[in-house]
Amino acid sequence: MSKSNNLNKFDCLAARLWPMSVALSKSHRYTITAIALHWLTALAIVGMLGLGWYMSDLPLSPERLKLYNWHKWAGVSLLGVSLVRLSWRWTHRPPVLPRQVVEQSPAWQLRLAAATHMALYGLLLAVPLIGWAYSSAAGFPVVVFGMLPLPDLLPKDTAWADLIKPLHALGAYTLCVLAVLHTAAAVKHQFVDQDGLMQRMWPARSAAGAAAETLP
Ligand code: HEM
Repeated sequence: MSKSNNLNKFDCLAARLWPMSVALSKSHRYTITAIALHWLTALAIVGMLGLGWYMSDLPLSPERLKLYNWHKWAGVSLLGVSLVRLSWRWTHRPPVLPRQVVEQSPAWQLRLAAATHMALYGLLLAVPLIGWAYSSAAGFPVVVFGMLPLPDLLPKDTAWADLIKPLHALGAYTLCVLAVLHTAAAVKHQFVDQDGLMQRMWPARSAAGAAAETLP
């Protein structure tokens, strides 16, 4: 069998597994800034959830203390990125949905998607703010990278700290559930519906591809 035959077979398999061939017009795609902010926050959330779960089960030790500090620094940095992301979203209209997606999706799915996006934005702000408030109430001020002390959100008060701690965990778990739901929906669009929706949040492969007007 020739090398080019093998290559064609591979291309067909890749196209089946990763159907990214739907060309989207520029008006259906997010801007490169929105895409960068989306993937940066997605990566940071996975890291924060993993670190949070791992560190809170550790016995009291210098290692645990170090990871708590890293978690707090990364968390307030993520809060900053989320504020930039929300300001961007506030000042830039999202791209319109391709007509094929609107026509194929039941109204409840479109409403659920919009509600999930709103809740994700809300939790991206609420979870780190509650973590910061918990840290202040527990009497551990946040000093970013050990250099930049942040103001306490609450005075030291153990009763408040006990009340807030489970709220931080609850917010983080809710964020995790919604992120999984959001990812599952994206995967369904990519592999079941094959409507190219995921490409909206992916940089265009070429200027010509971005300008293509194949989907209304
Ligand atoms: C989106 C950002 C954040 C996420 C997703 C997140 C996630 C988590 C998770 C999953 C836990 C473990 C909860 C448990 O099972 O008990 C945790 C614990 C914790 N987080 Fe966060 N966190 C974030 C931001 C922050 C920030 C900004 C701070 C403080 C400035 C913070 C402070 C803490 C502390 C002190 C704990 C330990 C609670 C304890 O067991 O004493 N977190 N976080």
